[in-house]
Parts: sequence; structure tokens; C-alpha cells
Amino acid sequence: MDVIRIRGGRPLEGSIEIGGAKNAALPLMTAGMLTDERLVLSNVPKLADIRTMSSLISQHGVAVEPQEPEGRRLSIGGAITNDEAPYDIVSKMRASILVLGPLLARVRTARVSLPGGCAIGARPVDLHLKGLEQMGATIKLEGGYVDASAPQGLKGATILMPFVSVGATENLLMAATLADGRTTIANAAREPEIIDLAHCLIAMGARIEGVGTDKLVIEGVKRLHGADHRIIPDRIEAGSYACAAAISGGSLLLRGARLDQMEALARTLAECGVEISEQSDGLLVTRARTLSGTDVSTEPYPGFPTDMQAQYMALMCVAEGAAMLSETIFENRFMHVPELNRMGARINVHGASAIVRGVPSLSGAPVMATDLRASLSLVLAALAAKGQTTISRVYHLDRGYEAVERKLAACGADIERLSA
Ligand code: UD1
Repeated sequence: MDVIRIRGGRPLEGSIEIGGAKNAALPLMTAGMLTDERLVLSNVPKLADIRTMSSLISQHGVAVEPQEPEGRRLSIGGAITNDEAPYDIVSKMRASILVLGPLLARVRTARVSLPGGCAIGARPVDLHLKGLEQMGATIKLEGGYVDASAPQGLKGATILMPFVSVGATENLLMAATLADGRTTIANAAREPEIIDLAHCLIAMGARIEGVGTDKLVIEGVKRLHGADHRIIPDRIEAGSYACAAAISGGSLLLRGARLDQMEALARTLAECGVEISEQSDGLLVTRARTLSGTDVSTEPYPGFPTDMQAQYMALMCVAEGAAMLSETIFENRFMHVPELNRMGARINVHGASAIVRGVPSLSGAPVMATDLRASLSLVLAALAAKGQTTISRVYHLDRGYEAVERKLAACGADIERLSA
């Protein structure tokens, strides 16, 4: 297994191209299952999760074809010949559950392995299932699989989500596009990735109102058609590199990044002493002064993203003063804390909150990535640390960050990937 080796202490200078959003690409790929025609997605990131989703969709019989050698344009579409999403693929990636809504809508049956828990928490899928039941599906759980059917087709329904779920909103939104009648999803998630999905579905012929709000109203149509859609930039990749500029004491131009998708993070970083300015081709991020400890609480969009909590914590490790980070979305998302502490950080976890007391410097150490975003927080800490850090289990990193070592090395980081 590969490891990443970093020698810290160099301010980063230069520019980094921000790729297409992983969390937009995954549901958009499953939206391709809603039509026999071709959905062509561009700005597709080159990531392990995208390859996993391609193999899942292909094994449902739907063609997933790269439109150019780099694979950044994918064409998806065709008849569904197999309604089963098997355990060996679903267990690799929870977002596989996003085939459930499209399968039920198109072929009226689906057999999808239950994703189970994951390192950051239990992450059940009850809201996905309850919503589909409200739309007339019969759902049985047997042998670790969700067996769903709607022999008469899905029907429009009024669904009130008890709390905000990104994935459940996406699954129900996709299912509702082909249901009979009107579906209302209240307390819907309104992440930029959901707006992107809705825009693509509308381009495919779906009738959706309330895009960008917490109430989506969908009038079902008989069929959807093909479309061309460009995926939005990855706000979490951009936010992660903004933290890299800040923690290294440098300045980075994040090409393609959009401030309107990351306002909560930008406000917090500004309070800490990081300047972010909009340029014609992206965002320029510069550490303006000594970093100061600033509290945050993770929230659904437009609040501070849980997917930025670990990276922001790395930054707070070297800030002046203390910061309290409260995690309200996932119950076990502090696994990076012991690893950061091994590098000299002073972090105490109390239930769903972590108190980070800033230290003058971190020191390099062998550490282990525990999940996708945690792995980037270790990269950030290593960029600021004295001496050498080796990060193992970097397959977590490869699920969601494209060419991280190449992008950082081009801006002056002393970083390399070693094949063990
Ligand atoms: C998506 C993102 C993930 C991000 C998360 C929150 C993708 C592929 N992944 O994950 O990166 O961290 O949003 O912004 O887009 N829950 C239930 N029952 C359900 C569904 C969710 O209890 O049926 C709970 C979860 O355990 C969690 C919370 O609701 O505590 C929010 O989860 P959700 O918004 O659904 O996250 P995902 O869609 O899995």
C-alpha cells in the first residue's frame, strides 16, 4: 500500500486547478440511469469513488463510456438489465445507495445491499426507505439487502424529512422525476451538489420547482431524455487547499473555485486571519496574519460543512488561542484527533465537541489516515510540521482527492508518494 511522505515548513505559492465535485458527480452519474438516452457529464473528477460508481452502474447493464482519453467526459445511459446492487460494491462506497431511487423509478424493482455503518458513524438509510415507501414502494430488508418494488410505479407524495439528509433528498428527488403526480420534499437538503443535480434533471426534462430552497416540488413526467451537463467545482477540495495556503503561511490561487459555494468556510477563515479574494479565474487565498483560534459548529448547507471539519481542525492546531469545534452531523467524526495529537497537537474531545489549544509548532510523525477528509487533515498538519511525516492508508485520500501530491508539489511542497 502506498504512503505519502511530507517534509513540512515550506510556504505554498502558486495555483491549483480545482476539479469537478465528487459529491455532485456521484448522484449525477446515477441520474444517467433515469433515461435510455445519453447523459453526457463533463468535468468528471478522476477518483476511486467515480470508478466504483462506474462499475456499479455498468453492472446494472447501463453503459458508462468515457468520451475522451482522460475520462473527464462520461456518457451514461441505456436499458437497465439487472436491478441488483451487490454487497461487494456497495460496501466500498455508501453513495451506492443512490441507485435505489433511479432503479425503482425506471424498472419498478431494486435489490440493493444495505451500506451498513462506516468509520465516521452509523449512517443509516431509513430516510431514503421511508420516503420511497411514502411514494408507494414496498420495502423489505432481508439478508442484508433492501428489496424494493413498486409494481404500479411510484406515486407522488408529500414527504417531510425529520432532519436534513443530502443522500435521501437526492434519492427521492430522482425517484420523483418519473413518479405519477406531484411530490413535495419538505426540509430538503440544499447543498450546491443538490442544486447541480436538480439543474441536470431539469435539462433532462424533469419538472422541479424550489431548487436551492428547503422545499422541492416535483411534477412527475413519463420519461426523461439525454442532456449535456458540466459538473460544478468541488467546494471541499477548494476549501481543503484554502487551508493548505493558510497553514503553510503562503498564498494559493484556486482556479475554478467559487466563493458563493463556500461562504461559511470563507467567513470563518477570514475571522482566523486568512484573506480570500475573488479573481477572474478563481479564488486567491493568503494568510494575512497570525492565525487565531475561532470556534465552529458543523451544520447542513449553508452552514459550515462537516466535510471541512477535519481540515479546519488541522489549521486550529497551530493557531493562537483555543477553538471549539462542534460536530453536529456525524457522531464519530474525530478519528483524526489521536493522529494530530501524535504530531504534537493539543486536542481534547468532549462528546460531540473538540477543544483545540493552539501550539507554536507541530512535529512530523508516522500517522494513519482513518477516512477521506481526515486524511487531508493529516496532509495539512504535515505541511506545517517540523520534520518528516509519513501518512499510511492513503487509499482513503484517493477516494476523493485527485493527484494531491502533484498539485501540492507544484506549489512548493516537499511531498511524494512512495509505493510500499
Ligand atoms: C453526504 C456526503 C458526505 C457529507 C454528508 C453531509 C455524498 C456522496 N456524501 O453524505 O460527504 O459528509 O452528505 O454533508 O454526497 N441519516 C440518517 N438516516 C438516513 C440518512 C442519513 O439517520 O436515512 C443521518 C446520517 O447518519 C448523518 C446525517 O443524517 O448523521 C446526515 O447524513 P446525509 O446528509 O444523508 O449524508 P450522506 O448523504 O450520506
